Amino acid sequence: MTDLRLPSYRRDDASHPELGFAGYRSTALRTPRRPLRPLPQWLTEVTGPLFGADRIGPLDHDLTRQHDGEPLGERIVVSGRVLDANQRPIPHSLVEVWQANAGGRYHHDTDQHPSPLDPNFTGVGRCLTGADGSYRFVTVKPGAYPWRNHDNAWRPAHIHFSLFGRAFTQRLVTQMYFPGDPLFGQDPILLSVRDERARERLISRFDLDTCEPDWALSYKFDVVLRGADATPLTVDHE
Ligand SMILES: [Fe+2]
Repeated sequence: MTDLRLPSYRRDDASHPELGFAGYRSTALRTPRRPLRPLPQWLTEVTGPLFGADRIGPLDHDLTRQHDGEPLGERIVVSGRVLDANQRPIPHSLVEVWQANAGGRYHHDTDQHPSPLDPNFTGVGRCLTGADGSYRFVTVKPGAYPWRNHDNAWRPAHIHFSLFGRAFTQRLVTQMYFPGDPLFGQDPILLSVRDERARERLISRFDLDTCEPDWALSYKFDVVLRGADATPLTVDHE
């Protein structure tokens, strides 16, 4: 291949957070000190590889059925659609989630805060979007958890999302929040998204119509990968 170059995309600084955000302490250590130099995307980067449906296990989308017993907590369904800048659905695309358990504890060695692990909950799921761009997870509502960013710092309940567009080089990593969380006002990760309307796009919508009677509450979260209604990405690891 000689000089074939495909268009790359500019970062939307109006809604996406700054890479270094003063209120979010650990960004100081991982923010590039020199301007970024975007690498050109070649045909191979934007056409493949893709994640095939045969790599998804039958229970990967259901975080409540990955162990012998059921996890403790409030059972919820999280669903929505993945769309492009023109509101067109993105089909057959990998959506991955990870989250804390109902007590706010991650199943990870670095999380040692005094809340119990749940032997029936790992907190990791994935699925491919359907032909209409839809995805669906069954899980339990994650708890808030403390972190050491500032005095008495607590993360609002959230689910981490990783989404791919039409190739592995088109990836969005973000967090989904729950409506009405009293911890929003002190969370620098959410507040690093400066535009209030963009922050609202990170908050899921409780949807009574799709709650499943006697079984689960329902939250809706659509993700728009690019354009004026894009879902803000995050620079977090917490
Ligand atoms: Fe988290």
